[in-house]
Amino acid sequence: MPQRNLLITNALPYANGALHLGHMVGFMQADIWARFQRLRGHKVAFVGGDDQHGTPIMLGAEKQGITAQQLIDDIQARHKLDLDRFHISLDNYSGTHSPENKTLVESIYLKLKEAGHIDVRVIKQAFDEEKGMFLPDRYVKGTCPKCKSPDQYGDNCEVCGTTYDTTDLIDAYSVLSGKPPIEKESEHYFFKVSAFSEMLTEWKSSNALQPEISNKLDEWFEGGLIDWDISRDKPYWGFEIPNAPGKYFYVWLDAPIGYMASHEILCQQNGDDWNAIWQAGSTGEIHHFIGKDIVRFHTLFWPAMLEAAGYRRPSSVSVHGFLTVDGAKMSKSRGTFILADTYLEYLNPEYLRYYIAAKLNNGVVDMDLNLEDFAARVNSDLVGKMVNIASRCAGFIGKRFDGQLASQTAAPELHQAFVDRAESIAARYEKREYALAMREIMALADQANQFIDEHKPWVLIKQEDQLDQVQQVCTAGINAFRSLCVLLKPVLPHLVEEAEAFLNIEALTWADIEQPLLGHTINKFKPLMTRIEIQTIEAMVEQSKEDLGVQVDPNSPLGQDPISDEINFDEFAKVDLRVAKIVAAQHVDGADKLLQLTLDLGGETRNVFAGIKSAYAPEDLEGKLTVMVANLAPRKMRFGMSEGMVLAAGPGGSDLFVLNPDDGAQPGMRVK
Ligand code: MSP
Ligand code: ZN
Repeated sequence: MPQRNLLITNALPYANGALHLGHMVGFMQADIWARFQRLRGHKVAFVGGDDQHGTPIMLGAEKQGITAQQLIDDIQARHKLDLDRFHISLDNYSGTHSPENKTLVESIYLKLKEAGHIDVRVIKQAFDEEKGMFLPDRYVKGTCPKCKSPDQYGDNCEVCGTTYDTTDLIDAYSVLSGKPPIEKESEHYFFKVSAFSEMLTEWKSSNALQPEISNKLDEWFEGGLIDWDISRDKPYWGFEIPNAPGKYFYVWLDAPIGYMASHEILCQQNGDDWNAIWQAGSTGEIHHFIGKDIVRFHTLFWPAMLEAAGYRRPSSVSVHGFLTVDGAKMSKSRGTFILADTYLEYLNPEYLRYYIAAKLNNGVVDMDLNLEDFAARVNSDLVGKMVNIASRCAGFIGKRFDGQLASQTAAPELHQAFVDRAESIAARYEKREYALAMREIMALADQANQFIDEHKPWVLIKQEDQLDQVQQVCTAGINAFRSLCVLLKPVLPHLVEEAEAFLNIEALTWADIEQPLLGHTINKFKPLMTRIEIQTIEAMVEQSKEDLGVQVDPNSPLGQDPISDEINFDEFAKVDLRVAKIVAAQHVDGADKLLQLTLDLGGETRNVFAGIKSAYAPEDLEGKLTVMVANLAPRKMRFGMSEGMVLAAGPGGSDLFVLNPDDGAQPGMRVK
């Protein structure tokens, strides 16, 4: 096959917070693809960087009392470290605030402008007079005009799902100052996307997109293509628009151009030809990996922009779904909002690389990281099947045959089974059907284990006349392990590197699967991967709950909700506090901190797990009164359902206080 020239990118994470496991999905998906292509002998440039502009970054820096430049530098260093530790093999990682990006952004904009694709229009927008700035939708909150739920964002209601304009909100206020915003006019620059409907229609039916995404494009076409507002007024953290003082490029204009700039920096370092990828009609390929929330930017605006500026369009945009943990959106209070570096403190990155690969196909579907299943799957497949093959055979080869493999294998048919499946597995990788690839690979691992089970080298070794046979059986086993290493190298680069050292061989390439390793001396075997212990996962989840205070919320505009340390009266009024009588209290098997309480709410009984074991023996609590949150949604815990929460005061440890029964308080009574 002729060598392909590939540029691969993953979405550029915002420079307003740490990476979490959700971010890692796209990076792992793109990295597996990049590594697979390199292994096949193709030329790969895998580039990325941080998305460093926009209001949240500007305000985030302000809040921390540092400059935006300091903030983005600091975050970039942290992102780089996380990516490196997850073995994401980026060839260059820069950021959209680079001088290279500025030059490209300006040149592309000027091309659009000269070609007549930019329109200037006056629009009305919410303006915070106290802050002296226009407010993006997410910075205005108020009461939903439809269902009257308080504190909804300026673009849509999270309670009833209605979308509306900021101006429709009742009692709107700015999240920055708390004051009602005014309406103010300003000139904005628009990119005339509608001029590219023909090109986009053609693009839609090319094979650059998954079928779900093509359908999405159809919906957008039906709704009519609307022109895209690409400017923001000062104060804004971004690149200023040439010849338009006080106007800045909207972050989403310069973000995808960041792919080009990062690639340009790489080309300068390597002396590669940037144009061979980007110019119209080039034979190079561009493959973008993104999450499902940013499809419009990558499949409408981006190809139109490239076309308008005279560049070629992407070969593919590959969209993945969102990661959930234990069946639900990642949650800070449940400890399932797991930061990349928290994960790394506890677990091997290759566990997650494998698990994600085992769950990920090429559809736009969410995938769940079920923590129990995660441990079971990794332990069974990687430790129990793959590494086990090597450890079962390596000892005999090392001790009895001086590390020497036999000059022939006891199982040429086993070797052939791997060779026969290799192309079909490669096709799965190519199509990003990783889960199907992992399934085929594990079926081969099963076959290899079965072979060893049947030939029982540990029995044969006791018979002097069977020694040759033992050597050949173990040689077959070691070769099966080596073939698995080839097939899983895109997913488990670090494990395979260690395996290469153990096998005493050069770095494996895909083609190496053809020929078995015979008559060769291998090194002493060291355990390549250990099992995941469920306690380690629990510790990571506990730690993630503690990260809560410092962690930024990517769903809120500031990274951190600017008013998260206050609740308003309505929110407070929703909390139903009641006096509850502790009718029974008991220890919970396997929990260090929890007691199981049976509470009487004046006729109604509730089961609650409370973390107050350090302060009270169960018998001290029975008969006491406490205050509970009676309308907390029930929560499924490892030990059962918890139907509320008890409140206790005190410095913690053994100084926690509950109410003493007194004449005034009665179970079920409201506390206000
Ligand atoms: N900065 C933009 C992308 C610009 S690309 C020119 C952005 N940044 S982000 O930090 O919000 O998201 C980065 C990537 O992570 C996106 O592809 C997004 O879809 C992905 N994910 C964020 N949370 C995710 C999950 N929970 N699960 C899977 N991917 C998720 O968008
Ligand atoms: Zn509503």
